[in-house]
Amino acid sequence: MGQTLTEKILDDHLVEGELETGEEIGIEIDQVLTQDTTGTMVWLQFEAMGLDEVQTEIAAQYCDHQTYQFDFKNTDDHRFLRSAAGKYGAYFSRPGNGICHNVHRENFAAPGKTLLGSDSHTPTPGGLGELAIGAGGIDVTVAMGGAPYYIEMPEIVNVRLEGELPEWATAKDVILELLRRLSVKGGVGKILEYTGPGVETLTAPERMTITNMGTELGATTSIFPTDHQTEDYLERVGRGDEHVELQPDDDAEYDDEIVVDLSDLEPLIAQPSMPDNVVPVEEVEGESVEQVIVGSCTNGGYEDILPVAKMLEGREVSMETETIVAPGSKQASEMLAREGWVAEMMAAGVNFSEATCGACIGIGHVPASDSVSLRTFNRNFEGRSGIEDDNVYLCSPEVAAAAAIEGEIVDPRNLAEDLDDLEAPGVELPDEYDASKTDLIEPDEAVDDDLIKGPNIGDVPIRDQLSSEVEGEALLKMEDNITTDHIIPATQDILMYRSNVPKLSEFTLSRVDETFADRALEADGGFLVAGENYGQGSSREHAALCPMYLGIEGVLAQSFARIHRANLFNFGIVPLTIDEDTYENIDQGDEVEIVDDVYDAVTSGQEEFTVRVNGEDEYTATLDASERERDILAAGGKLAWTKEQAEDG
Ligand code: F3S
Repeated sequence: MGQTLTEKILDDHLVEGELETGEEIGIEIDQVLTQDTTGTMVWLQFEAMGLDEVQTEIAAQYCDHQTYQFDFKNTDDHRFLRSAAGKYGAYFSRPGNGICHNVHRENFAAPGKTLLGSDSHTPTPGGLGELAIGAGGIDVTVAMGGAPYYIEMPEIVNVRLEGELPEWATAKDVILELLRRLSVKGGVGKILEYTGPGVETLTAPERMTITNMGTELGATTSIFPTDHQTEDYLERVGRGDEHVELQPDDDAEYDDEIVVDLSDLEPLIAQPSMPDNVVPVEEVEGESVEQVIVGSCTNGGYEDILPVAKMLEGREVSMETETIVAPGSKQASEMLAREGWVAEMMAAGVNFSEATCGACIGIGHVPASDSVSLRTFNRNFEGRSGIEDDNVYLCSPEVAAAAAIEGEIVDPRNLAEDLDDLEAPGVELPDEYDASKTDLIEPDEAVDDDLIKGPNIGDVPIRDQLSSEVEGEALLKMEDNITTDHIIPATQDILMYRSNVPKLSEFTLSRVDETFADRALEADGGFLVAGENYGQGSSREHAALCPMYLGIEGVLAQSFARIHRANLFNFGIVPLTIDEDTYENIDQGDEVEIVDDVYDAVTSGQEEFTVRVNGEDEYTATLDASERERDILAAGGKLAWTKEQAEDG
């Protein structure tokens, strides 16, 4: 039987296991990336493990999430990260150089390689045929030390693209259409592999918009085959020699197939406040828009901003609409500036921002209360913009530019009918992605050779071995789809404590219940109870690390998001799956006890656990875990486990 493209790359990197769906496999990692909010812990853990030097072909440390230097804390972190990259042999991308995924795709992403990144949108270079997976920081630390990355072999879904995008429909509409059909849970446990005649009609950057937002489907990763479009892009970024032609075999078998006819697509928009709440733009036309932002790792490339610049050329944005362009990389800014497009956009009334995640995580450009903000980003979870009563819509750059011109949501096809000189800008790549690289420090140009830790950088907490008796109060009961933003909000005032776990922990789940952190510390142990898809969203390991610090020993949920579930194991918190009936019968404040000897049960491979509530009713909960995950849990988390392994030789 032939192989899918995913299987071919996995086969090339396989060090343990077999490529059978559901089986745990260990794969060699060629490249790692980390960013500033996850990176400080990655390097502190690297140090705690006593490792000397990065072992992967490429390790890159980006500073993109918290680039504004309000006081010393972010700056201290940046300096620490620069020193860690210097000491251990990683590339260091300075604050303001751009968003990790954009800078990585410009400089390092390559067909056939594996990439592990401590950021949930790591799958972006799947559009270049790289198998790129988002993971918790500790997984990245371990991979950076040369150990394999372990994952349950996902299902491989064939997303067959047919036809060609019509005018005004874009790559963003392809992924919004998939979100509309499949929902934010539709890709869980799956790798989406794109095939079909529609593939070659999409440029590599368009493909990367699609693979970037595969994360919103919950997919492990998404990948495109490589062809002349890949080669063309790599040549334009000056790395044509890294092109490799990669295709699935003709007789490859997939676990499922989805067909998308690109010719049927039209401009789409995700309404507040979930990326899968998608409708045609025409359905929400007329809604007035107070803010438009073009940028982020999804649509912040040169090719994303150029259409906006073309649409705004010689026009003015609406007086009612604040319009911001935040490029994904300094390279994009520099090129657009050299070509005169920045001046053109500024003349139209656009504010130009530093290349940073910024507004995507509520840092700067927070919308006015109860107003509509239209963004080209990938996420619109409630409150993520920095204000609770936000109304964030997600759309393509073209739809965003149309709204900026009109001051209200408008289908650009209709706007083009009204303004007879407005033409669909299409997709245009520059002849050459040509910009200075002064903000990317190579390992052999390192500024520092030892770690520099300021006062906001604390030690990494390590949990003791799993105990036999796990019992405590159900400290918080939550609904479905609790995101990592709910668990640890990513806003500036909170995430500036990312390297200071005791302080950061005070904010744990504060968006759900402000008293939670105090109650958890006082209880010194206890459980979280949640509905479906607990921990969806980002790879933020603080969302497990802080509950661990507060003493949380177990999470009882109807289902878990993939990366967060791995993070719970990594920080020694027992993730137990419960059915709906059990969920309904546990209330906040109930006394919960796992009846089994938990240490023995975990290490002996037991799957079903008995959960006793208030000393009376008993329910069954399931621990679905590989042998390795059980060992990690029993040791008290991955850091303790890795140290144990190193000591055992
Ligand atoms: Fe940054 Fe938002 Fe992407 S936080 S990495 S721009 S999803």
